[in-house]
Amino acid sequence: MYVCICNNITEDQVKNVVAKGLTGKDALSHLGVGSGCGICVMDAIDRLSHDQNATAPNLTQALPSNK
Ligand code: FES
Repeated sequence: MYVCICNNITEDQVKNVVAKGLTGKDALSHLGVGSGCGICVMDAIDRLSHDQNATAPNLTQALPSNK
């Protein structure tokens, strides 16, 4: 299933990068998730939060700053 349509990134691609040790933020950034329209970021974080290999503190770092 696609996580990011703009960049053709699948859920499996994200999980593979996380399994290699990148944090949620770094995994999404590495793959370019959210670099287009940005609408996919929250869904990508939600999907990763359900992955046993991901941890909530790492994923919250992927959220854009409200500053
Ligand atoms: S769907 Fe991911 S940036 Fe547009």
